[in-house]
Amino acid sequence: MVRKTENISLKGYNSFGVDTSADLLVEWDSVESLVEWLRSEGKEILSGRWDILGGGCNTLFTGPYRGVLIHSISNGISIVSQSNDYVIIRAEAGHLWDDVVEWCCQQELWGIENLSAIPSSVGASAVQNIGAYGVEAKDCIESVEVVWLDTLTIGTISGAECAFGYRESIFKHELAGKVIITAVNYRLSHTPAPKLGYGSLQEEVAKLGEMTPLAIRKAITTIRNGKLPDPAITGNAGSFFKNPILPREQVEALKVLYPTMPTYVVEGQPDKLKIATGWMIDSLGWKGRAMGRAGVHDKQALVLVNLGGAEGCEVVALAERICKEVKEKFGVDISPEVNIL
Ligand code: EPU
Repeated sequence: MVRKTENISLKGYNSFGVDTSADLLVEWDSVESLVEWLRSEGKEILSGRWDILGGGCNTLFTGPYRGVLIHSISNGISIVSQSNDYVIIRAEAGHLWDDVVEWCCQQELWGIENLSAIPSSVGASAVQNIGAYGVEAKDCIESVEVVWLDTLTIGTISGAECAFGYRESIFKHELAGKVIITAVNYRLSHTPAPKLGYGSLQEEVAKLGEMTPLAIRKAITTIRNGKLPDPAITGNAGSFFKNPILPREQVEALKVLYPTMPTYVVEGQPDKLKIATGWMIDSLGWKGRAMGRAGVHDKQALVLVNLGGAEGCEVVALAERICKEVKEKFGVDISPEVNIL
């Protein structure tokens, strides 16, 4: 089924809760219906302005969207294959990410439990390579199913071909505008492999007295709920900015000036280090402060919030001010993780 709605309010379609509209929203629930619609109307639609709207949890609309938003409402999780060790599961692009995590944890499958409680959709998990608590979606993505927009054929892109990086993938670059993701296959394991090295996770899990994917999920949810605002109550898109990955010498020079600045090693990039944007924004005194109806969350400075009725451009104005101050004080360019439309 394909549902088309003209001049639609986007308030319920973005976690920032920005009240704006789109000229047309096209929602699809199966690959067949998507391909059929693309065959009949796709050419004309795709020659104008269009974007794919995932769960809307990483998108900020700065005004009425003058174009077509394509949004998956496909749902479903299934087991594709399994061995003694591994299970490959397939989830439809529109499925809620956290439902996939919960389903896997309930089956005692290991791999994505650290990615609990992230507001996202399955499709976005691959585009954004979502990550938290020492795990990234790429660690488990076996392959991504797509529709190629030039030929309207169905294809599969292996995890290795996705060019995953920190909040990066081929879908943001070479394949942007060329494919629509229809499903993602994840490789999970029956073998326990807890990853508890990040922050206070180990202590939080120890309090629960068991070591299962569900216990880790519970611990992560507790930690996240303590720091991150619930988008159903306070509009936000999780981390607004990325953590910059910089040459090691630049970070070492910053460490001399700011010895408490947190730094992280980056897998596969020994000459670089990642620094914490939240820490920099916090040390500028922005935590809990507001500019108009947009603000900086009082428990995690990396998160910008809609304090009620904010327009997207107000959030952007706050973000720009913060970027400028970070540059002035630390000499570092920070960039948004959020997709600004
Ligand atoms: N920090 C502060 N003040 C703040 C925020 C952070 O001092 O206001 C410090 C923390 O104390 C810590 C360091 O900065 O030493 C890093 O903070 P945290 O562990 O909270 O993680 P983050 O770097 O701010 C990243 C991800 C989050 C993910 C967490 C946990 C990015 C852009 N964000 O945040 O992902 O949940 O690590 O793994 O990489 C998201 O992408 O939406 C998201 C929430």
